[in-house]
Amino acid sequence: MTLDVRVADERDAEVLHEFAALTFPLACPPHLPASAVDAFIATHLSTESFLEHCANPAHTVLLAENEGEPVGYALVKLGRPEDPDVLEAVPDGPWCELSKLYVHPDSHGAGVARELLDAVLVIARRESAATVWLGVNQQNHRANAFYAKHGLEPVGSRRFVVGDRVEEDFVRARRA
Ligand SMILES: CC(C)(COP(=O)(O)OP(=O)(O)OC[C@H]1O[C@@H](n2cnc3c(N)ncnc32)[C@H](O)[C@@H]1OP(=O)(O)O)[C@@H](O)C(=O)NCCC(=O)NCCS
Repeated sequence: MTLDVRVADERDAEVLHEFAALTFPLACPPHLPASAVDAFIATHLSTESFLEHCANPAHTVLLAENEGEPVGYALVKLGRPEDPDVLEAVPDGPWCELSKLYVHPDSHGAGVARELLDAVLVIARRESAATVWLGVNQQNHRANAFYAKHGLEPVGSRRFVVGDRVEEDFVRARRA
């Protein structure tokens, strides 16, 4: 694999939407109805959503490509967490949220996620973040194992809305 990780821009928004629609269901527990997953994709992973992320100076979308084909992406958000449960779990700012991390299923285990996480940590240090944090579904065992392997420890929990369903996430964090 010839892996390249770069900062995405508005021209990537359509590709990011298509890739996100393909990979978001992989993070969802089996009990979640397709209607809730589809509603989340339509609301939060649309082309317009990615256009907004790319235009937001506090957000960075990282795109991992293998010979020009997308194999993963991450969304980084800087700033104070709005959810009080998250703030209680990660009181020390400045904060860097790893808001999304998704790899194509054909590339799981291939090091793409690690490369993306490394790029996230570079941003966190550049921005003098004290804490890198994320929320991950408590039943997403593969993702939890990946984060544990990279020092992102469970520090709390939060509720996360997918369509009309409320899911329980672990909040995980590490020093930048
Ligand atoms: C989460 C994700 C980015 C991690 O990337 P990855 O390339 O799969 O990660 P790795 O293979 O390096 O690490 C996963 C670890 O979980 C282990 N694992 C796999 N299935 C598992 C399971 N069911 N339970 C526990 N551990 C599991 C793997 O063996 C591996 O550990 P190892 O390196 O010690 O063998 C990727 O799996 C993904 O995109 N998943 C779908 C989307 C998603 O869930 N994103 C996260 C949303 S918060």
